[in-house]
Amino acid sequence: MLKLEKIKKGFDKKTILDEISLDFREGEIVTILGPSGSGKTTILNIILGLIQADEGRILLRGEDVTDVPMEKRGFNIVFQDYGLFPHLNAYKNIVYGLKNNTGLCSVDEVNDLIKLLELEEHLDKRITELSGGQKQRVAFARTLVMKPQVLLLDEPLSALDGVIKESIKERIKQIAREFKLTTIIVTHDPEEALTLADRVLIINEGKVAAYATPEELIHTPQCDFVNQFILRQLEIKRQNIGQLFTNTPLLQVG
Ligand SMILES: Nc1ncnc2c1ncn2[C@@H]1O[C@H](COP(=O)(O)OP(=O)(O)OP(=O)(O)O)[C@@H](O)[C@H]1O
Ligand SMILES: [Mg+2]
Repeated sequence: MLKLEKIKKGFDKKTILDEISLDFREGEIVTILGPSGSGKTTILNIILGLIQADEGRILLRGEDVTDVPMEKRGFNIVFQDYGLFPHLNAYKNIVYGLKNNTGLCSVDEVNDLIKLLELEEHLDKRITELSGGQKQRVAFARTLVMKPQVLLLDEPLSALDGVIKESIKERIKQIAREFKLTTIIVTHDPEEALTLADRVLIINEGKVAAYATPEELIHTPQCDFVNQFILRQLEIKRQNIGQLFTNTPLLQVG
């Protein structure tokens, strides 16, 4: 439903994205992995329309939206710092975008979303009174009431701890399924990328190093970079955890 065709982008004469072509299917979750500075956020910003590509086209359901301004593309993003309004309570943040867009999401739909994200008891709180995970969920709700055609998330889970992270991961999947929402998520954690995605995109040095299902990435041979980047990092993680168990004496009582 969304296509990037030969997208090129450079900053200060340095090529960041080198003729990248990609397709995203309706309702699928794609995670984007790659080293720091490889252009992950830049891809999201180009899709969103926040920055222009130097060359190439963006097609939405076959229609060229390359020159369509950001607010008319119908995409929406949750930034890493959430971008919430601190002077408004959680509920007012959630429905903020509906002020000038009545009819986008009904009161019932807003309430369903609030329930789905388990925010009922936090609606009156100011943003400063919310935990990181709660802020995250408010940011999601605020984005989803706008009924975006494509949801873009830049490192949405990086500030969250284990249990909350798992529950938000499940919610992202549930929302993508329920709303048939094409969801593109940048992450630097291979484990997260593999467990969340229908397909994983790995970029390196301006090019697509892999674009495949998690199963394909793990079970079919990939280029050296991908093997190193994903499998090595997962292996290191496993080793570190293993070591923790062999090196740490059990807690003694008394
Ligand atoms: N507005 C800008 N002006 C100049 N250079 C930029 C700009 N935005 C990004 N860059 C450069 O483009 C490259 C890619 O940046 P980008 O933010 O897309 O990387 P990233 O993959 O998201 O990295 P990270 O994992 O650290 O978030 C970096 O080298 C960055 O310095
Ligand atoms: Mg980034």
